[in-house]
Amino acid sequence: MGALVDGFGRVHTDLRVSLTDKCNLRCTYCMPPEGLEWMPAPELLTDDEIVRLVGIGVRELGINEVRLTGGEPLLRRGLVDLVGRLAGLEPRPHLTLTTNGIGLARVAQSLADAGLHRVNVSLDTLRPDTFVALARRDRLADVLAGLDAAAAAGLTPVKVNTVLIRDVNDGEALELLDYCLDRGLSLRFIEQMPLDAQHGWDRRLMITADEIMAKLTVAHELTPVPVRGSAPAEDYLVDGGPATVGIIASVTRPFCAACDRVRLTADGQVRNCLFARDESDLRTPLRAGASDAELAERWRAAVAGKRAGHGIDDPSFLQPARPMSAIGG
Ligand code: 5AD
Ligand code: SF4
Repeated sequence: MGALVDGFGRVHTDLRVSLTDKCNLRCTYCMPPEGLEWMPAPELLTDDEIVRLVGIGVRELGINEVRLTGGEPLLRRGLVDLVGRLAGLEPRPHLTLTTNGIGLARVAQSLADAGLHRVNVSLDTLRPDTFVALARRDRLADVLAGLDAAAAAGLTPVKVNTVLIRDVNDGEALELLDYCLDRGLSLRFIEQMPLDAQHGWDRRLMITADEIMAKLTVAHELTPVPVRGSAPAEDYLVDGGPATVGIIASVTRPFCAACDRVRLTADGQVRNCLFARDESDLRTPLRAGASDAELAERWRAAVAGKRAGHGIDDPSFLQPARPMSAIGG
């Protein structure tokens, strides 16, 4: 087996698979209010194609963790069956899903039964009006119901992702932490990244890791959890633990040197970085009858050329053409 290794010796074992670019929210840091032009259906990988590619990943390329993302992955039809098929791969990957939580209450148990291990749920606010301001839809109650259902279904540890935006929800850091501590949810704050479709990212509006720390330490004692590994979150024990809170400081404390992630878009393109400006097409050779070995070789080549880092701080930085919703988180 030839692993997915790049020119800096980074070995890639964590595969993010975007199942759709569609979403039922319009988070301001992600999409414009009118949404985006969705990918045409024939361009999307079918379930069979996804299972084939992920199978190559786990058998031939050393992938051991598979994260299903979107857009909003719960919008993909037949998701439970797809999860069941992915959970049936040998060797079996650790299988997780990143969702906005809408509709999760309905399917959490079926997903767990099909073999999903865990979920990450996005939750930026606990206030219905702020939710509408941020996500442009009145769906907070669905998200909270989804979180409860995920915990009840054993999709644990349930991780909660929060993006703080200046003057919108940045006053809620402590409330969100208390909410999560009360329910045994594992909260992580994510610095806002320049990945929105409308290219509206403004460094001054980003709430930095330092600011998040300052907000949380007003009420809690945070002590760093020493082992970080390749995980992007810097984890802290809250008031001595065992509960933790994480900060994902992609912008101010980049963790690219430890990155072990590779991404497959819903239309079958390998991206070696969230911020990559090019990608490698696996769908065309797949549909033209390429063998597993040929596809694996293309995939290795796609990762081999990965750049050292995202370069957000370089004067020459350019946002990728694909927005986050079409890459997967
Ligand atoms: N910056 C940081 N996080 C983002 N997410 C979506 N867009 C951005 C962005 N521009 C988050 C979502 C979700 C996860 C997949 O990524 O809130 O929790
Ligand atoms: Fe949808 Fe996630 Fe984008 Fe919000 S951030 S619009 S939930 S894809």
